Amino acid sequence: MKMNGRLDFRNSFHFSAPSGWLNDPNGFSWYDGAYHLFYQHNPYASTWGRMHWGHASSVDLVRWSHLPVALVPGESYDSDGCFSGTAVEHDGKHILMYTGNSNARDEIAGRAGWQVQCLAVGDGETYRKMARNPVIGSDLVPRGSSSADFRDPKLFREGDNWYCLIASRDEERGGELLLYTARDLAQWRFVGVTAHAGGTYGPVWECPDFFALGSAEILVWSPQEVPQKGCRYRNPCSSVYSVGRLDRGRGDFSGSAPELLDFGPDFYAPQTLETPDGRRVLIAWMQMWERTIPTDQLGHGWAGSMTLPRELEIDDRGRLLQRPVRELEAYRTNRQRVNARIEGERSFAGLRGHRLDLSISFDDIDASEIGLALKRGGAEETLLTYEIASQRLTLDRTHAGCEIRSTSPSRPDCRLSCCDVDPNGKSLELRIILDRSSCEVFAAGGLRVITATLYPEEESDDIVFFARGGSANLRCTAWELSV
Ligand code: FRU
Repeated sequence: MKMNGRLDFRNSFHFSAPSGWLNDPNGFSWYDGAYHLFYQHNPYASTWGRMHWGHASSVDLVRWSHLPVALVPGESYDSDGCFSGTAVEHDGKHILMYTGNSNARDEIAGRAGWQVQCLAVGDGETYRKMARNPVIGSDLVPRGSSSADFRDPKLFREGDNWYCLIASRDEERGGELLLYTARDLAQWRFVGVTAHAGGTYGPVWECPDFFALGSAEILVWSPQEVPQKGCRYRNPCSSVYSVGRLDRGRGDFSGSAPELLDFGPDFYAPQTLETPDGRRVLIAWMQMWERTIPTDQLGHGWAGSMTLPRELEIDDRGRLLQRPVRELEAYRTNRQRVNARIEGERSFAGLRGHRLDLSISFDDIDASEIGLALKRGGAEETLLTYEIASQRLTLDRTHAGCEIRSTSPSRPDCRLSCCDVDPNGKSLELRIILDRSSCEVFAAGGLRVITATLYPEEESDDIVFFARGGSANLRCTAWELSV
């Protein structure tokens, strides 16, 4: 480990905690003239522990200011953690709904551990837990569902009705989402099962989100241990969406087959908000369970970042498209343009860096493989390769820098990720956002995204383009990002 500060992996424009551990985004919302981002946080160590809600705000989703920790565990109903949840504005107040986690014995279920749903109210800086907590307790868990895995409420309001989606686990069917409703936030009633794994699609589900996009309704959730299928479900935990309709009366959602939101190794537990100008923006934890994290192992005192916020759109085939939030463009500097025929490897003077916004187009391709090496230097590089015959885009971080090991028995390898990309009119278009220890690749207009953390040396900042087995035209516009 270097002590001279050159190995400072902290990202510049991806949110991370001031110190300690960060996982899921929580309560991602617009309130009182600012965006608010809360997060699962252990302030005392760079490992997961008794979860608090960390808090930050921003006016543009790019530059964040840290605020005091919003929720601290310690009540009888959240003694072992304030777990994930959501936030809404109501009557001028900021309402947080979160899961109180307890490791104590559940006498009714006859085993240790239970989770309940709780409320806190605040003004954007200070939050007070409600005296009535928990508002959804174990008594409202339907028969067959788990009161130990009963968490991550997604709170929303429609007219006079409040709704809440909660992730749970059915004894036989595995992961499931449950819908609850209330008139007054305090008296909740179970409506029905919104979606379930049917015994095959993950034993545990987490972190539901639900929103409308145009005339479509979209359900987002995070299933664990879905069987791997080619480029899909290569991580122990996945985040998926389905487009359809929620029946508010019966609680069930009928929608399209679930599809991954991101094909990379580091994306989990996304949440969305609506901006004042009507955009739907998503943010996720840019990390994965069951992995070593170099900043923790090297003793840097922090672990975990969020993805860049991403604007969502739905295409005419009902598929979600993601693109970096447009506010990032205000931080672009030093534009460079490249237009060249590539055969073999090629780099361009001055085109290098750890914090870049790259718009790349390969066309007139007669090569069998095209792509680029990112963050290259010495023996380090991260390879992004598109194979024409298979139409497959692969990110290989085997030699990216500090090693990241998988501790997941079902997914021992976390070096390679891939997705299919239709070479629309025989060209490959990529938008790549690099920060100090991350890379987000948006392909096919944002239909496919690969997000990965990378921990190279400071000196490993070269960008090298390549075409193998032939040549291709490259056009690239690159900006440095200075936040
Ligand atoms: C998802 C999750 C949630 C839980 C939280 C605990 O990453 O496991 O289900 O509320 O993290 O930190």
